[in-house]
Order: sequence, then C-alpha cells, then structure tokens
Amino acid sequence: MSHFCRFLTLLLLSCLLTACNAAPSALRGAGRAAVEINQLWWFMAITGTLIYVGVMGLLLWAYGRRRNHKPTADQHSSLTTAAQDLLPSSSGGTRMIVLGGIVMPSLVLSAVYAFTLETLWSISGQQRAEPLVIEVVGHQWWWEIRYPAQGIVTANELYLPIGQPVRIELTSEDVIHSFWVPELHGKLDMIPGRTNSFWLEAEEAGDYWGLCAEFCGVQHANMLYLVMARPQVEFDTWVAAQQALPPTPTTELTRQGQQIFMDAACDSCHTIAGTAAVGRLGPDLTHLASRRTLASGILENNIGSLGGWIINPQHIKPGNLMPSSDLSGPQLQALLAYLETLD
Ligand code: CUA
Repeated sequence: MSHFCRFLTLLLLSCLLTACNAAPSALRGAGRAAVEINQLWWFMAITGTLIYVGVMGLLLWAYGRRRNHKPTADQHSSLTTAAQDLLPSSSGGTRMIVLGGIVMPSLVLSAVYAFTLETLWSISGQQRAEPLVIEVVGHQWWWEIRYPAQGIVTANELYLPIGQPVRIELTSEDVIHSFWVPELHGKLDMIPGRTNSFWLEAEEAGDYWGLCAEFCGVQHANMLYLVMARPQVEFDTWVAAQQALPPTPTTELTRQGQQIFMDAACDSCHTIAGTAAVGRLGPDLTHLASRRTLASGILENNIGSLGGWIINPQHIKPGNLMPSSDLSGPQLQALLAYLETLD
C-alpha cells in the first residue's frame, strides 16, 4: 500500500472515530442560537459543496473535450488552427466570465450575507425584560461564575434554568479568553477591561461542555467548564443551596482542617463564605464539594484528585497560579476532611 493510501485510510478512520466520542459538537444544537447558527452552517456547507462539484464537473468536461480534440499526425502542421478550436469563441468566453465570475458569486455571496445578518439579528436582540444575569470572568486558566442578584460566586460550573434566555456578561481578569458552549451558542471573546454580553438559552435540560476558544497560554486546552441546564425548580433548589453558608466544622478533624486552611495561606487566594478566608486570586471554595470537577473541568471532583491537586498542582496543570504544598500526610487528611464538608 502506498504511503498516500495509508495516510488516506488513517484520515478516514480518524474522521469515523471522532463521531464516537462525546466531544461537544456545534452540529448538535440544544439552544435556540445554536440551532440558528447550525442552519446557517448547513446552508453554507451545502452551497459550497454544490459549487465545488459544479466547478470540478466543468473542469473535467473541459479536460475531456481537450483530449478528444488531440491533433492527428496529418493535422500536425495546422496545430495553431487546432489550438484555436479549443478556445471558446470570444463572445462565449465573455459570457462565461460575466455569468460565472460576476453574476453567480454576487448572488451566492449576497444570499450568504443576508442569511448571516438575519441569524446575527435574531440571536442578539433583546429577548427578556428582566433577565437572570450571570457574569463570567476569565482567568488563566479557570472560569469565575457570578450571579450578582443572587449573591452567588462559584467556578467552572454555570447553572441556568431551561426555556428562558439568560444574560451572560463576559470579561477577563488577565488575557483574552473566549466563551464557547458549542451546543448552545457561538463564541464570544472575553476581553480585559470591557464587558461583552449575549443571550444564552438552553431548550433541553442537560450538561453541556464549554471551552475556551481563544489561545490564552500553555493551559488553554485545559480551560473547560460545565453548563448545567435544569428545569426552573431544580435551578431554584441549586440557588438556595449555593446561597446557604457552608456548615461550621463540628469534628476535631474538620476543625483542624479549617485551621490548616488558614495557616497554610490557602485563605490568601481563596474565599470560603462565613469564614475569614476572603482571597480573590483563585476560585471561591464556599461550595467546593458540590462541584463535579476540579482544576477547570480536567479532574473529577473526588477526595483522591483533590489531595493530588493540593500537593502538586503544577504536576497536573503546569503554569497555573496555585503553588505546591508541603503538608504532612495527617495535615492533608484533615484539610481534605474539612474541604469535603463544603457542599
Ligand atoms: Cu482561556 Cu484559552
């Protein structure tokens, strides 16, 4: 098998295999905006394919015509005349240029432009008078999620009620990031010093992966978040749970863990509501144990990965701002026991 055939087989296989994983796909729209962007995408893909097939067909036809006109030996002397036969007549050539080079592209591009404007208009207009506002702040490399009216601050998990447009306000604390939940909406940049906003609506309950769509440093690819779209009642339950203060430590071990949290200077970067920890550099940990993932979507949130993350976060996600710690085994156990109560 030639190298080319092997390459082609691998390419086809990789295309087939990508269909197997559950990576978020912009072609599986579960929100109004994503469905409309999808329609625009299909329109452009189908139009592009038809034009490509048409142009290739014409090219093959012209090639076939040229072969059929190959001059024989006795025509050799009149090569110039034969070559002239192959060229379209000058009036036919001009017609081809006007139709194929001016009229067709103008029609196709105008249609694409109109459809794009219509889609942009439809997904960006005012959709609700008093919406739920969710602020998302990009950090290298995690997402701060704030519900100002509800007084909730969390990280890397965005809850929203289904069937209603919510207002998302984006900004960044450091470099440019980009907010993208492929199954719900298009991308929007998060720029330091300015606020970009848009309407996000999920029509179906579910968990949707979001990603950073703008290169923002070495851990750009490990900057994920989950959008949890829930029925209104479930969303309200979540809001109430997030508004509550975490329980005060009741056992000797968890009291000790809380003390270690303060002594080891975790509190200078992290906030835990109801305690003296009010740091703003890292994620708010008030309800850490209620979250599904750690380190911005790259680890499952369980006691094992939390322990590993605390001891050596630089090994797991090199370049992030969290320093490694030199806690002893018993100290780590106590700290983990305390953090596990923050649900
Ligand atoms: Cu943040 Cu890429």
